[in-house]
Amino acid sequence: MSTLVVIPTYDERESLPVTLERLRAAEPDVDVLVVDDGSPDGTGRWAEEAAALDDAVHVLHRAGKGGLGAAYVAGFAWGLEAGYDVLCEMDADGSHRPEELGRLLERLAGGDRPSLVVGSRWVPGGRVVNWPWHRMVLSRGGNTYVRLALGIAVRDATAGYRAFRASTLRAIDLAAVESHGYCFQVDMTWRVLRGGGTVAEVPITFVERAAGVSKMSRSIVVEALTKVTRWGVAHRWGQLRTRATGVRVAPR
Ligand code: GDD
Ligand code: MN
Repeated sequence: MSTLVVIPTYDERESLPVTLERLRAAEPDVDVLVVDDGSPDGTGRWAEEAAALDDAVHVLHRAGKGGLGAAYVAGFAWGLEAGYDVLCEMDADGSHRPEELGRLLERLAGGDRPSLVVGSRWVPGGRVVNWPWHRMVLSRGGNTYVRLALGIAVRDATAGYRAFRASTLRAIDLAAVESHGYCFQVDMTWRVLRGGGTVAEVPITFVERAAGVSKMSRSIVVEALTKVTRWGVAHRWGQLRTRATGVRVAPR
């Protein structure tokens, strides 16, 4: 199975070299695509130099900060075009330990063939190290809201450490994914489940970054809350309508 890890970056000049080195050491057969949004701190230029020295490393440059979701959509399109069998998501800041990628990939290859494997903080065995309390509350509260609003069983739908089968991504209309911020993660989870796919969660230890700053913002939280609420309402409305009329309206 040929595997590509997509790493979106915005101002990760200090973190990316460490993460990349750990990833190449932990999984030497896995290729890497850095998707940089014109980082002012020169992350993209550094990645370019790393790619020149290592055939397994590739870089995609985007004009400006367009959000995590848009960066992943571009990265996935590149990876599908290149023909990889498995496409992964990983943060550049070391929060997703490269040493745990093997466990995600093993789970994806498991007998029940999940469509998507999520590295989860909120299943038994999952942990978070060094997060301030407000991020804990936001993540736990956000995930509880997602589960109730959408009626899904996934415990960490906002997680950004993931492994997709290429076939799972091909079945999704990526051009229609318009989530910019971190709600991209929920959006993709929801699309996989609505399309009849399955999601498996494996516990991970999420370690807060040692350098640089989070790009989480109020507008990212608002986008997630608004979109999840809209998807939930549309879904429940569709269920009610089906019950009342017997006519099933195709999912979006
Ligand atoms: N190209 C690009 N463009 N990359 C971006 C952008 C963007 O606009 N915004 C963020 N990133 C990159 C960062 O450089 C980093 O590699 C990764 O996306 C995650 O961003 P962080 O800012 O480190 O996220 P976090 O630690 O606050 O949030 C974590 O938790 C979220 C909620 O559970 C991450 O694991 C997210 O993936 C997760 O959704
Ligand atoms: Mn982070």
